[in-house]
Amino acid sequence: MLQDHEHSSKERAEVEGDDAIRSISAIAYGFMGSQALFAALELGLFTSLSDEPCELEALAEKLQMPSGPLSVLLSTCVALRLLTWDGQRYSNSPAAQRFLVRTTRSYVGDYYLRQISSLIYSSLPQVRSLLRGESEPIARDYASTLADPWTTEEFVRGQHAGSLGPAILLSRSLDISGFSQLLDLGGGSGAFAIELVKRSSELSAVVFDLPQVVAVTEKILQETGLTGRITCASGDLRSDPWPSGADLILMSYIVSCYDPTTLHTVLARTYDYLPPDGQLLIHDFAISADRSGPRNAALFLFGQLTVSAQTRAYTTDELKTALQEAGYHQVTVQPFIPDLTFLIRAYKPGSVKSV
Ligand SMILES: C[S@@+](CC[C@H](N)C(=O)[O-])C[C@H]1O[C@@H](n2cnc3c(N)ncnc32)[C@H](O)[C@@H]1O
Repeated sequence: MLQDHEHSSKERAEVEGDDAIRSISAIAYGFMGSQALFAALELGLFTSLSDEPCELEALAEKLQMPSGPLSVLLSTCVALRLLTWDGQRYSNSPAAQRFLVRTTRSYVGDYYLRQISSLIYSSLPQVRSLLRGESEPIARDYASTLADPWTTEEFVRGQHAGSLGPAILLSRSLDISGFSQLLDLGGGSGAFAIELVKRSSELSAVVFDLPQVVAVTEKILQETGLTGRITCASGDLRSDPWPSGADLILMSYIVSCYDPTTLHTVLARTYDYLPPDGQLLIHDFAISADRSGPRNAALFLFGQLTVSAQTRAYTTDELKTALQEAGYHQVTVQPFIPDLTFLIRAYKPGSVKSV
């Protein structure tokens, strides 16, 4: 017969075992949740539910799809807290209503569909080849990933949908008065340049990116009507000359794509380029000093190996040190998108501007 203390330690071990297998299952099944989200977005599920709650059969008719598989998708979305169910009707959760309804300004569904699903998700098996040390994927970088116009347009438009929200947040939280020109290095769709230029009438911007990306950026700038204040230049930011004249440089989602040698070279170039009092802003996924997270940042960095095999999971301390070694002063680090990104500011010495 088991003694009381033996009972409790056995029960504790069982509970701990249950928790452990539950958390491992959550990781192993995570990709099914990703596909449920992509499927729901593709079907327009959240947009269909944006005006009023709906029962299964009415929803099946609205979306013109079989109610059997739809019922499974709906249950999955309820379990993932994307939808709620009152016993009869399904509704969007507050998060889905805010970010996944196509007609809202805060819609980010195209980021998940056009970049995360169509490019990163579908290329993830190649990361396993990369980790096995097989040769072909090691050559993978942005230039080889964005090799055809269709993939590039999907990537850049998807990035635009994902970056507009953070860009608006940056433009609201940063005082950029006193700066006259922004160099948005690896600026992609120009989302950050667009929002910063809208915020400050004194600021103009140059978006620098690969030629195939800039071809899409120019279309997006035409659509926003900001072509007068934002221009584009193309090349490889590691080796080609950058347009002169900027006193503010932004690198958003760039430094994590590159290994330490490239990182140090690029940071040294930004320092040499900037005038005294110039400022460098780095916005990126990074890991806390003890490498315990943020979880979503760590996950994204793993996925980013699909577009850049040189991706590194830098800690914020490592980035801060690299900036100081490049000569920058007053390097500050702050969390930016919760559980995902950091904003790092660094000043080139001079009479410091208050930003
Ligand atoms: C994830 S996107 C971020 C775009 C933009 N900075 C933003 O935050 O929305 C990374 C961008 O960096 C560009 N990029 C990466 N390496 C580059 C290089 N060596 N030269 C020029 N552009 C590069 C890519 O083409 C891509 O547009």
